[in-house]
Amino acid sequence: MAVDQEFLLELKYRNDVESVIGGYVNLKRRGSNLVGLCPFHNEKTPSFTVYPENGSYYCFGCGAGGDVITFIRQAENLDYMEAVRLLADRAGLQIPETGYDASMQRMKATVLELNREAARYFHANLLAPAGKPALDYLLDRQLRMSTIRRFGLGYAPDGWDGLLNHLKAKGYQEQDMLVADLIGRSRRGGYYDRFRKRVMFPIIDLRGGVIAFGGRILPGEEGAKYMNSSDTPVFKKSRNMFALNFAKNAGGERMILAEGYMDVISLHQAGFTNAVAALGTAFTAEQARLLSRYTKEVVVTLDADAAGQKATDRAMDILSGVGLGVRVLRIPDGKDPDEFIKKNGSSRFSALLDGAIGDVEYKLFMAGKDLDIETNEGRLTYLKRAAAVLAGMGDSIAMDLYAGRLADKFGVSKTAILAEAARAAKQENRRRQKKEFRALTAPKPGAPPEERQYMRAAGAEEEILSILMRNPDYLEYVKERLSPADFVTGFHKRVFEAVTEVLETGRVFELSLLSGRFTPEEMGRIAGMQNRVLSQETAKTALNDCIRVIVEEKEKLDAHKAGELPDGEWEAELRRLREKKQRGI
Ligand code: UTP
Ligand code: MN
Repeated sequence: MAVDQEFLLELKYRNDVESVIGGYVNLKRRGSNLVGLCPFHNEKTPSFTVYPENGSYYCFGCGAGGDVITFIRQAENLDYMEAVRLLADRAGLQIPETGYDASMQRMKATVLELNREAARYFHANLLAPAGKPALDYLLDRQLRMSTIRRFGLGYAPDGWDGLLNHLKAKGYQEQDMLVADLIGRSRRGGYYDRFRKRVMFPIIDLRGGVIAFGGRILPGEEGAKYMNSSDTPVFKKSRNMFALNFAKNAGGERMILAEGYMDVISLHQAGFTNAVAALGTAFTAEQARLLSRYTKEVVVTLDADAAGQKATDRAMDILSGVGLGVRVLRIPDGKDPDEFIKKNGSSRFSALLDGAIGDVEYKLFMAGKDLDIETNEGRLTYLKRAAAVLAGMGDSIAMDLYAGRLADKFGVSKTAILAEAARAAKQENRRRQKKEFRALTAPKPGAPPEERQYMRAAGAEEEILSILMRNPDYLEYVKERLSPADFVTGFHKRVFEAVTEVLETGRVFELSLLSGRFTPEEMGRIAGMQNRVLSQETAKTALNDCIRVIVEEKEKLDAHKAGELPDGEWEAELRRLREKKQRGI
């Protein structure tokens, strides 16, 4: 998709990475860069770096990276043109007319229509005679009819093609139903309903569109308890939350994060309409960011089992990472909110909610759970763990406060606790730096096999590209010695061509001028190169070394290929290699 270059530069200028990304990630300054918790994978210590000087970002934890347009594509789940449009709107710019390909828009609209039609079909089936077992099940779980209607619950009947035929009769194509993940295709080419004999939970987005479904098995049936739609053009499960369409209007300053569909529905029925749940996956940073648009605080109430505790720890870190206040609600007797409310009523739950403890209290509580703090050994271990909790707070006044409380409680000095916390913080910092260095210098684990095979050449290619992006003056020097055909890996060859093009039209390298022709994943790798830690030698020495490596590796490759050539061609190839050698490269 071609967008006018001048316009792209203007767009980039008016949407500086720092403020755009700062709207999504809590960024802290480190030297001339900014760091924060990566919104694209879950982490406890920041690997996500924003480089204001060249307008890029890169996460050395997961390899996400690129320019401001790539960021918006990833963060908002948009295609390239949609992201450009969003940024243009944000800056009040008019996009120059281009023939924007609307096919993706059309596809999204069709999938939404199909989903809405399917939701109607499932709901009608729940109320029909065939849906009686499902309706009985829901009523048995004490859902009221008004709740069932409000959430648009449904039933996918037994049989293989009920929905398929229903949608066909309405004039829809199988191809589109496949894209919506409402039907599947068998190995023999036949189509079948994806959801069968399940209670259906429509997932509604913030604009009221039905974007996906969760389906729960009925008791006594075989199979996975819950089945969820896969990702489609309108649905990415790590970026949506169940019931957020209601919860965002609940008013008040907090939301409740619960484990699943049924917990959320029974919380809403009991009047807690600010409850949401992740969708069949672990809670993600993207979801936390989404919540942070509508609330200031999240009360986490996940299952009390070991898995639930782990999930709670993760959710706490993720939530505070995006700047949300966090409290944890532990339900007595290891129940989930659904069971608790059924048994004890909503006012008891409300009282629990008011007593939910802050994240530091929760962590300090959990740190002592398996210890006997009556023994010196237990106390010592506890204080060390507690100091590590304090070290992670990053707020010196709060740290001082908690250190004082611990000191009083355990009869040790506050100074000792703070010193231990400082030591833990330093250790954590060193661990992080090591990880960062390794990630920025090592070959990427996700590199294509081609690059793994030609690791030496690929490494040299990356370094050349990295040097060029930062020292455009060397373009001529490199071009005299290397042509795109010398690049051993296809991806680096494309990057070299693109970089050359950008440098030849402009004076400086602009990542944004590349973002229309590479995928977000590729942009991540390019941003990684752009911000790579370069060796200590001068750029010129490094360039020469890299050029030599590429030429050597290319020769090995060519010689290998030449060995498989017919005689006449082999001669010609050899001559070409000799000539190249004479040129001294
Ligand atoms: P739970 O097993 O706790 O389900 O899984 P639940 O919501 O309490 O449902 P009931 O009370 O047993 O009916 C919690 C969430 O994990 C996801 C679903 O989103 C579910 O709501 N899940 C669970 C799956 O995606 N697949 C499964 O097989 C199980
Ligand atoms: Mn449950």
